[in-house]
Amino acid sequence: MLRVENLRMYYRTMSGLVRAVEDVNFRLREGETIALIGESGCGKTSLARAVIRFLPRNVAELSGSVVIDGIETIGMSDKDFDSKIRWRKITYVSQAAISSLNPVIRVVDHMIEPLVIHFKVPKTDAIERAKEIIKRVGIPEDFLWRYPFELSGGMRQRVVIAISLITNPKIVILDEPTSALDVMTQANILNMLKELRSKINLSYIFITHDIAVSSELADKVAVMYAGWIVELGPAEKVYVDPLHPYSKGLLGSVPRLRSDVPVTFIPGTPPSLINPPKGCRFRPRCRYAMPKCEEIPPVIKTGSEEYVRCWLYGEK
Ligand SMILES: Nc1ncnc2c1ncn2[C@@H]1O[C@H](COP(=O)(O)OP(=O)(O)O)[C@@H](O)[C@H]1O
Ligand code: SF4
Ligand SMILES: [Mg+2]
Repeated sequence: MLRVENLRMYYRTMSGLVRAVEDVNFRLREGETIALIGESGCGKTSLARAVIRFLPRNVAELSGSVVIDGIETIGMSDKDFDSKIRWRKITYVSQAAISSLNPVIRVVDHMIEPLVIHFKVPKTDAIERAKEIIKRVGIPEDFLWRYPFELSGGMRQRVVIAISLITNPKIVILDEPTSALDVMTQANILNMLKELRSKINLSYIFITHDIAVSSELADKVAVMYAGWIVELGPAEKVYVDPLHPYSKGLLGSVPRLRSDVPVTFIPGTPPSLINPPKGCRFRPRCRYAMPKCEEIPPVIKTGSEEYVRCWLYGEK
């Protein structure tokens, strides 16, 4: 469904270029979920925006390859992207989507807008589709006639997910969809996403800084650090036996119930993406750092679609 190769996105700022996404590679099949995890500021949202072409004005460079359902989209005109890809093949539930619902516009009008505007579907047909989709996300049909201010946070999150599904896309990018919700509501939303995936064979790019949440849905995991994917692999491998020192630190920082293993922390803070450290971007925080790490680490394949970007494995 999706093939991303050597993707790079830089922002232009007064202080210099922000290297937010660098040399990113991954694939996503039909019905598969990739979790994109990493600390705030590591480039998760930028990567999502590069894929869905939701670009701020100060993008200085967008290069590489993004093939969506067989179509190369880098280099495509905005007009073609809008008519062939956005909404039809892929949709994006942004980090702040829940607060973007206008409180005084009824749920139904939010939901039918993409169909009426982008697909020129007659309003009555669009409402029928909205009735079908709102039930799929676990909300009774009559809630279509309510206003967002009458709904709880969890309900509003379901509505924004319903909007992303209304045009029947194949891939949905969910950017921190549960971060603003309490744990019970989070669990409900995650269950709903699982159910949807099995019923309509959706592919998800699930972005989160919360590893526990990501492990609920992920088939594969991409660990991001300072604009790079530093490790990519199947969920059962990355969560259980991570290879990259940053992945190890990230997973070691998750408290485990009924375990004597102490929680560990990664010292220091993520680097500036304007002047990233020379060589490995994780070097200043890495306890395995060695002189070789002053050179950019190679991407080492550890399986057919798995890799780690670290000199520890490059030496072997
Ligand atoms: N429009 C922008 N202009 C300049 N820098 C940006 C812009 N958007 C994000 N950034 C920077 O890019 C980096 C990655 O940000 P982001 O993709 O939002 O990370 P995440 O989603 O992982 O928190 C951060 O250093 C952030 O400050
Ligand atoms: S390349 Fe070196 S500094 Fe970077 S993660 Fe590997 S060991 Fe640590
Ligand atoms: Mg983000």
